Amino acid sequence: MNIVASPIAQSRLPPPVALAPSARTPRRCALAVGVIGPGRVGSALLEQLRAAQPRLERSMNLVLNLCGVVASRQMWLDCDDPELNARHHRAQTWRPNDLGEFAAHVRGDDGRHALLIDCSASDEVAAHYPDWLAAGIHVITPNKLAGSGPLERWHAIRAASVDSGARFRCEATVCAGLPVVQTLRDLLDTGDELIDIEGMFSGTMAWLCNRYDGSRPFSALLREAQALGYTEPDPRADLSGIDVARKLVILAREAGLPLSLEDVDVESLVPPALAGLPLGECTRRLHELDAPMSAKLAKAQVHSGVLRHVGRLDREGRASVRLAALPAAHAFAHARLADNVVQFRTRRYRDNPLMVQGPGAGPEVTAAGVFADLLRIAESLAVRP
Ligand code: HSE
Repeated sequence: MNIVASPIAQSRLPPPVALAPSARTPRRCALAVGVIGPGRVGSALLEQLRAAQPRLERSMNLVLNLCGVVASRQMWLDCDDPELNARHHRAQTWRPNDLGEFAAHVRGDDGRHALLIDCSASDEVAAHYPDWLAAGIHVITPNKLAGSGPLERWHAIRAASVDSGARFRCEATVCAGLPVVQTLRDLLDTGDELIDIEGMFSGTMAWLCNRYDGSRPFSALLREAQALGYTEPDPRADLSGIDVARKLVILAREAGLPLSLEDVDVESLVPPALAGLPLGECTRRLHELDAPMSAKLAKAQVHSGVLRHVGRLDREGRASVRLAALPAAHAFAHARLADNVVQFRTRRYRDNPLMVQGPGAGPEVTAAGVFADLLRIAESLAVRP
């Protein structure tokens, strides 16, 4: 969009004032970064950060120093051990995983700004957040286990963040890179009042519902969704509704509602015979999903409806997840591919809800949500000493 001022308007403007160089150049900010979990999302993030570094330095005066990476058994610490590095010609050196040592290395002892990014799906890692935040380390994560885990731990995370000033951000826990958590925060922080939030919060389930027309077995589509990186490591987390329930709990807590996972009314699509199996065994028996899903589709089609996976949270803290048969004209029926749709009804957006829509699963968009959190923290550091 171009905006051109009219000559009359221009003549009334005061003469341009040259900006002082300090006002043009953002304050230099260096951030020591450690990444936990170089899986699909973690690897996509590392690639995005590497590609963006020259631009960030040019436009934001922001320098990201990647100090280390932790995988499930090993970690790499950058040049922290001169002897080992010398032996390996300064190559990256992998050593046994130790999260305490890792966090201390990224934090350093020189008062630097330090940030840990947890791209694992590990509860054990999430259990460290309160300590890391208390030590002044910022934490960003797409891992839903902290935001939807035990309420006491959630309060400990919030309290540690408030006490130390270190920031905790988890935008990518809900609908990957879509601005859902931030939108809710902005609504509430500007004095709006929540009525309810309703939407399709699962990229996997949205993709499956969009593609499932009966021409291919449901289990074949599920395997395809796995290959595309949409599903959780165990796809039963998507099918059981637990993944969406976790997102509702995260949003509820952001809205000040003390919700826990067991408070969410969830309709599971996992047949009882598959529910307790080890993952490998369950993967071999995914075809057992086909008959019940085919029956649900046929029932929806009798009334020319479509299947959509819908989550809902209201201001009283009532939350539910279900597979609904919706009329073909419903707003949720038109979302495409792995689109999530989130509809906020508030005092200001009562009759015409505020909608956020777009792809809500996949490594690239999830990593981009994490990256956006990093930039928000860096911006806040650039205005704070
Ligand atoms: N499995 C999740 C989904 C990934 O499909 O929405 C993003 O949370």
